[in-house]
Amino acid sequence: MKNYTFEDLVGDEKVFFAEYFNKKPLLRKAAMPGDVRDILSIRKLDELLHLEVVRPPYIKVNHNGSGVPEKGYTRSVVVQGVNITDTVVPEKIYELFRAGATVTWCSLNQVVPELRDFTRIISDKMAVRTDVVGFMTPTKKRGYLPHHDPVDLFIVQLEGTKRWRLWDLPDERLGDNASYTDEELGEPSIEVLLEPGDVLYLPYNTPHAAAAEDQVSLHLSIMMRPRMWKDLLRETFEQVASAPEFNEYPHIGALRSSDVESLFRQKITSLAARMDSLDAGNELDRLADLGRTMPGSSHGTTFQTIAETDGLTPDVLLRRTAAPVEFGANEGGRTQMTVNGHKIAVPAPVAERLAGLADGEPVPAGEVFPGVPAERATKAAQGLTRLGVLEVTGAH
Ligand SMILES: [Fe+2]
Repeated sequence: MKNYTFEDLVGDEKVFFAEYFNKKPLLRKAAMPGDVRDILSIRKLDELLHLEVVRPPYIKVNHNGSGVPEKGYTRSVVVQGVNITDTVVPEKIYELFRAGATVTWCSLNQVVPELRDFTRIISDKMAVRTDVVGFMTPTKKRGYLPHHDPVDLFIVQLEGTKRWRLWDLPDERLGDNASYTDEELGEPSIEVLLEPGDVLYLPYNTPHAAAAEDQVSLHLSIMMRPRMWKDLLRETFEQVASAPEFNEYPHIGALRSSDVESLFRQKITSLAARMDSLDAGNELDRLADLGRTMPGSSHGTTFQTIAETDGLTPDVLLRRTAAPVEFGANEGGRTQMTVNGHKIAVPAPVAERLAGLADGEPVPAGEVFPGVPAERATKAAQGLTRLGVLEVTGAH
């Protein structure tokens, strides 16, 4: 699959953030380059349906505006001696689809590695949790009643076409779910036909309804979970309130002593002072990191890196990883080091070499241990790479 970028979804980033983000829908015709069926196709969903591991809540069925109970399309299957009670029966899903049901593929980024790339692009940029949901709707059918969602959506049409009706944002945006009747909403403010490759951005709480036209429709909804100030402040408060001075357990029932009230007042004052002294920029960076590391978009190449370590040669360039290293005392020519909770002792010249490496500075494996033959230095480099102190440059 092509490596997609955030700009493929939003176009000019500056324009997106200034004019559309969190304000109004954005339609981008033919936004996604290449054949979008490489992202996900109906054919691929046939394959996924038969994988026993894909079961509720990863797959859901919606018929005539309401959810079909899971019992209607699952059964028990024994896997490695464990009874899995909700394994999907493909034939039942096909039956429901023929009858007009929409099949919803939830959190596909937890199942399909290529779709996880999408969530990572967005999570990195927006510092929020991101999930990818696939909606497959039979010809001429509408999947869900008009509603709004608690999340911002990037809708990417992959196969067939879908007609979308959108209404203006409600005056009060609570970040909740809500369904509407056609009468409540009246005439839509926007009506668009999405074709393969088109992208539609909807800010959270935008009322919408969609119906397939004369072909089976498959689209992705890439969902961003906004974190409002109240969510961010809660995180900050949690951090500040974890200070040891808030660990005591006061008795606040009917028999509380008279000084509990003034003690509570003191704690509130102290908490406020701690909140007040926070560096807003640093705290926002911490909150952004938390957003980027929420479930659904992590990735890693540690197995591969460890495997590559076995074949390390003296000329391979290494660099320090982000893992913090504490250098301790030097005893008998060896320096104590603490890495990832492990305590090790390395020859003093190796410790000095490591300590002297600037951020990202490369060092050939054969020079990690100054003063000894390259072969021996490479052995030391291998050990340090396995421990996660060094990594091959360009490996990530
Ligand atoms: Fe929706």
